[in-house]
Amino acid sequence: MQYKRILLKLSGEALMGDRQYGIDPKRLAEYAKEIKEVVEKGIEVAIVIGGGNIFRGVAGAANGMDRVQGDHMGMLATCINGLALQSALEDADVKTRLQTALEIKEVAEPYIKRKAIRHLEKGRVVIFGAGTGNPYFTTDTAAVLRAIEIDADAILKGTRVNGIYNADPEKDKNAVKFETITFKEVIEKGLKVMDMTAFTLSEENNLPIIVFDMNTNGNLLKLVSGEKIGTIVDSK
Ligand code: GTP
Repeated sequence: MQYKRILLKLSGEALMGDRQYGIDPKRLAEYAKEIKEVVEKGIEVAIVIGGGNIFRGVAGAANGMDRVQGDHMGMLATCINGLALQSALEDADVKTRLQTALEIKEVAEPYIKRKAIRHLEKGRVVIFGAGTGNPYFTTDTAAVLRAIEIDADAILKGTRVNGIYNADPEKDKNAVKFETITFKEVIEKGLKVMDMTAFTLSEENNLPIIVFDMNTNGNLLKLVSGEKIGTIVDSK
C-alpha cells in the first residue's frame, strides 16, 4: 500500500542509541534524515514519541511513587523528546510543529486537531507531545488516538525488531515472522504488539498497525513506498 498520511510512533528508548539513558544526538540526526526522506516524497508525517529514555511512570509506581505523579513526569519526558526531535528535524531543514496534550504554551502549541491537520496539509511534520494528557494511558494509546483523529492511513510503530514473530526473536532463534496478521489472530495467539487499550482502539477503528525496524537505514522510506517491511496488523 502507498501511504498518504502516516502516524509514526517512536519509542523514547530508541533515542538513547548506545547510551544508558537520555538522548543520543547521532541517533536523533539519523531519525531526522529518515523522516526527511519520507516528507520529501510528499507523505504527511505525524509523530508520537515515548519518554522511557527519561522517565517511565510505571517504573516510578513500582518504586513506590504515586502513579499519577509518575505518569505526569512521563508526559513531560515525551515533551522533552519532542523538542529534541523538532530541533533535529529543523536542523535537517524539515518544517515542524510540536503540539502538546498538556498545555505548556510558552514551549509548544496546544493540541488542536484541526490545526494539526492544517500543518500536515502544508507539509509540516507534526509532533504530538505529552501522550494523551491523561495518566494510565501509554504513548502507544496516544499514537493510536492521534492517528484516528487525524485520519492517518496507518500507525507505523518503529521498534528494534523487524516485525511480529510467533516467539521472541531475541531469545528464540526458531522464531518465525508474520508478514501480515489480523487483530483477531494477535489476540488468539497472545502476541504482544501494543498494550490492550491501544490495540483494541486500533482494532475498533480499523487502523492498521505496522511494526517495523526503525534502526535500519532506509526502512521507513521503503515501507511508505509500498515495500514489504515489517509486519502489518489489520482486520483482513
Ligand atoms: P498557518 O498560519 O496555518 O500557516 O500555521 P502557523 O503554525 O505558521 O501559524 P501560527 O501563527 O499559529 O504559528 C506561528 C508559529 O508560532 C509556529 O512556529 C507555531 O508553532 C508557533 N505557535 C503557535 N501557537 C503557539 C502556542 O500556543 N505556543 C507556542 N509556544 N508556539 C505557538
